[in-house]
Amino acid sequence: MADKTAILKVGDKEIELPILSGTAGLDVIDVRALGKIGMFTFDPGFMATGSCESEITFIDGDKGVLLHRGYSIEDLARDADYLEVVYMLLHGEAPNEKDYQEFKSTITRHTMVHDSVNDFFKGFRRDAHPMAMLCGTVGALSSFYHDDLAIHDPEQRLRSAIRLVAKMPTLVAMCYKFNVGQPFVYPRNDLSYAENFLNMMFSVPAEEYKISPTIARAVDRIFTLHADHEQNASTSTVRLAGSSGANPYACIAAGVASLWGPAHGGANEACLNMLKEIGSVDRIPMFIEKAKDKNDPFRLMGFGHRVYKNYDPRATVMRESCHEVLKELNLKDPLLDVAMELERIALSDPYFVEKKLFPNVDFYSGIVLKAIGIPTNMFTCIFALARTVGWASHWHEMLSQPGQKIGRPRQLYTGKTQRPFKSIKK
Ligand code: SDX
Repeated sequence: MADKTAILKVGDKEIELPILSGTAGLDVIDVRALGKIGMFTFDPGFMATGSCESEITFIDGDKGVLLHRGYSIEDLARDADYLEVVYMLLHGEAPNEKDYQEFKSTITRHTMVHDSVNDFFKGFRRDAHPMAMLCGTVGALSSFYHDDLAIHDPEQRLRSAIRLVAKMPTLVAMCYKFNVGQPFVYPRNDLSYAENFLNMMFSVPAEEYKISPTIARAVDRIFTLHADHEQNASTSTVRLAGSSGANPYACIAAGVASLWGPAHGGANEACLNMLKEIGSVDRIPMFIEKAKDKNDPFRLMGFGHRVYKNYDPRATVMRESCHEVLKELNLKDPLLDVAMELERIALSDPYFVEKKLFPNVDFYSGIVLKAIGIPTNMFTCIFALARTVGWASHWHEMLSQPGQKIGRPRQLYTGKTQRPFKSIKK
């Protein structure tokens, strides 16, 4: 038995449950033995549940700490590029120069998709939401790799992860090009990951596309800030899908679907639409009142977080990036004025202070993405692109853990007890 335990008394029954400690963060009570006394835990929304053991990302919500493999998000956003973060999430350590160059070359050479993927898009309406197209095309990728889906082979798992990380920018750009009716642009091996994405998004055959180093750096940093975030809804979706033995492309497609929700990754698109609806600074108080009204389902999109109860460290970095990009591009965006005033008011309003609601990563990412020319309905696709490495790393880690079991929660049943069925046919 562990050196720390919790004693649970239920009626005349008593059970001693081990308390487990990690290298950082809260201890957990291991409740796996609860079945012995014929009970389940009950925690809708997993407000107080640890679903797994992981070494990838650590969050301290009270202190606003986010670490990837022990490296702080502030250090990574400042001094690393996204592919270094991808490498460390997948492999556990930051790469040395040799490993980094080899990894970068490997990713670069997996950016093309099978040419028949182009035909997938012919089945979509021209105005299909990019996330609808991304869900479909990511899941369908598995149809090209039937000979490389042995999920219990770590080499094949890593190869799938590399294919997914490498091909997501290509697929996301294809969704955008299909929406705007422009020809798909093939990846270029002479460009960096972020430059390649921008080129596939915005270049056209008719003229040369000049990549702005500022925008490329901002995009690379946005990818880093969205790379992974512990057991959030979409990552938990990927883990649950993966626990059944589903192939990695199907699992990542499940993650894309979960991320799409406005309470999760869809918040950046919803936040910008909200800022547009507010329209001007003088209309902010009306929306603040709506957000506080219990009978009004309206919420301030881009505010609040299940885990961060002081501030989202990514929002801090994103805010700086936001100002850098707008200054560099000499853009005066009235929506930023509304966003700044909304932030100022919300952070001083007792309702938001008590409930610890503050701007999260999605609040600023939408403004930066708009500033660099990404259309609003593409925001969550960018989030999915960046988060693919997080999803793949957790999927890979779960399958590498001994004794991995299929995820199968139970429930508190409150339906009808057994009763006779009277058929209308008799
Ligand atoms: C992401 O989990 C992750 O790590 C996610 C993410 C990642 O990187 O993967 O960080 C990315 O999803 C960020 C969150 C983006 N979502 C939004 O910006 C949507 C708006 N935010 C809310 O929907 C909400 O804050 C959540 C979903 C983010 C968190 O919800 P919780 O933890 O379940 O909190 P809750 O809904 O129980 O709210 C607690 C209280 C409630 O009031 P009471 O019932 O206690 O009176 O705060 C209120 C809520 O009504 N509240 C808000 C609010 N968010 C919560 N009121 C107004 N506006 C809001 N945004």
